[in-house]
Amino acid sequence: MRLVTYDDLQPEWEASRAATQLSAFGSFLPKTSIEAWRKQGSLSDYVGVFAVEREQVIGHAIGVRLPYTYPDGTVHRISGVAMVGSRPDESGRGIARRILEEIHRRERRAGFDHITLWTNRSWGSHGIYERLGYHDVFQSPFAVSRRVQAPARPKPPQVRPATPADLPVLDRLHGEATHGRWGFTPRPPNLLVDEHRIFHTDPKTNFLVAREGGRVTGFARVDADRFRAICRELVVTRPSAAKALIGAVEQKAPSASVAAFTLSSVRDQGEELRGRGYFFVPAGWYVLMARPLRREGGAKDVAHELGTDDPRWVVHAGDQF
Ligand SMILES: CC(C)(COP(=O)(O)OP(=O)(O)OC[C@H]1O[C@@H](n2cnc3c(N)ncnc32)[C@H](O)[C@@H]1OP(=O)(O)O)[C@@H](O)C(=O)NCCC(=O)NCCS
Repeated sequence: MRLVTYDDLQPEWEASRAATQLSAFGSFLPKTSIEAWRKQGSLSDYVGVFAVEREQVIGHAIGVRLPYTYPDGTVHRISGVAMVGSRPDESGRGIARRILEEIHRRERRAGFDHITLWTNRSWGSHGIYERLGYHDVFQSPFAVSRRVQAPARPKPPQVRPATPADLPVLDRLHGEATHGRWGFTPRPPNLLVDEHRIFHTDPKTNFLVAREGGRVTGFARVDADRFRAICRELVVTRPSAAKALIGAVEQKAPSASVAAFTLSSVRDQGEELRGRGYFFVPAGWYVLMARPLRREGGAKDVAHELGTDDPRWVVHAGDQF
């Protein structure tokens, strides 16, 4: 087995790359999307590390780099790993471990202090990451409505579905709303615009916008269907926008179902959600893990260095890679 980077991938390996990703995740990202993501600036210079054997890709991981504000206010980029996968018929041979160690080596050499990833604590991969020095630094809480509230009489701010033209405004609003906090802020300048362009998110279905006095004062990213309404991103510059958006998320929940909030919105809107009688679970199985790249550190130290143990830490769905 040898390890190569994205630019070394041969066109004739493409089917095996797709098969490896499909076997690991049930979906795959075509090269056109990877290249658009690379141009947008959130990928490492080498894009990813790929394990190749018999002229086939049998494992891979992508290197992500995002702006990050540390608790002392300094902004650096933080390194991340996404799409760690290997072919099931080759598992247990150390493919993932070798790929990750190569990424650690590259990121350390590039000057990064920490590397992060998102995973589920109940997956086998979580144990692999722990053995490689990663610690859980954040388990997202959930807040769930006990019942969907009756429709409120509409009063300002008004809430409506977003359009593609709103996305640059929402990108700027995130910067304004999270100014002075730390974590995944400031975001890459056109994160939502680029997400829409590269990953085809649908603003009309997935985003609600609150307007007050002719200005956008908040937005919510909602994943709603016939069974549920889950808000994974609630960003506001005024409490009135939060109230209106929470009400609008509840209205998107089907009757006889519930609305749910997760990530920073649970801490940020704790008082409002408690006032509405929400039920809270302090931590879900999905976690952010982090590993120091320059020295050893326990879970508490790493969480403290990254500021994830403080309510001023910001993380929303758009920051999950
Ligand atoms: C998770 C995954 C990438 C592991 O790939 P792999 O190439 O089999 O992993 P490795 O062989 O490098 O295993 C590294 C270590 O974990 C152990 N391991 C492998 N699979 C494991 C599992 N399912 N549960 C527990 N330990 C496991 C190995 O024995 C090895 O231990 P060692 O370092 O002490 O020798 C692969 O199973 C996969 O693609 N899964 C589906 C996609 C996925 O869940 N990706 C992670 C998303 S966050």
